[in-house]
Amino acid sequence: MEYMKTNKIVIGNWKMNKSIRESAACAKELLDARYDLTSVKSTDIVLTPSFLALNEVKKVCAGRNGISLGAQDVYWGTGNYCGAVSAKMLSEVCSYAFAGHSERRMHFNDTDEIVNRKVKACIEAGITPIFCIGEDEEANNAGKTKEVIRRQIESGLAGVRPCEMVVLYEPVWALGTGRTPCTEDTEEIMRFVREILHELFGAGAGRGIRAVYAGSVRPENAAAYARLPHVDGVAVGTASLSAEKLAAIIHAVDRAV
Ligand code: PGA
Repeated sequence: MEYMKTNKIVIGNWKMNKSIRESAACAKELLDARYDLTSVKSTDIVLTPSFLALNEVKKVCAGRNGISLGAQDVYWGTGNYCGAVSAKMLSEVCSYAFAGHSERRMHFNDTDEIVNRKVKACIEAGITPIFCIGEDEEANNAGKTKEVIRRQIESGLAGVRPCEMVVLYEPVWALGTGRTPCTEDTEEIMRFVREILHELFGAGAGRGIRAVYAGSVRPENAAAYARLPHVDGVAVGTASLSAEKLAAIIHAVDRAV
């Protein structure tokens, strides 16, 4: 099974950690000449601040090639859904949106079916979905990782045609914990993810899909993951809160071959 790598991607996910002002300041610092992001050649950068901060961060990043904005969540309907933000609304400010981040699955009851609706809503609105999958500690200990991942992909992408997308593998037990899967295990899972995508979409049809690893990515370990044959980049939570660390991760991924 041959898979050709395209541009890599680094997603900095600030979750609910930064106010509007702090988000804009962090983006500004990240773009400062001392971090030399203009020298990044083959890595797309996506920043996902809170909904509220999207516009401000977008202003800061205006005119900078290779840097895009993404939303941390999305709702699939339009109209009378108090408090929700639709994919269509998001399409005015950003080009990516998370669908089914494990923290949404865990704390906000995002089921596989809900995640599927979110993925479809993004695609319909012209937003690239960051479709998240990953096993929890219990499933990992029970040796059920592949079973969980197959279920999540088959349900989450049911009825979806091949299109530009990010599939984000985030083992839940590695998020924010400092514990990480070894690179051999990660490569095995990412290869398995590709196999399922081939089954679903046919050989070659998954070319626009980038498979990305997340879970305690830091400047010291980012290159090891980005270098894996079936990994197209990383998503970063905790370490992305520091512009210096995020910049170091971006450069490490860009240099990793
Ligand atoms: P972390 O979060 O880098 O803090 O582990 C990653 C994520 O939530 O995707």
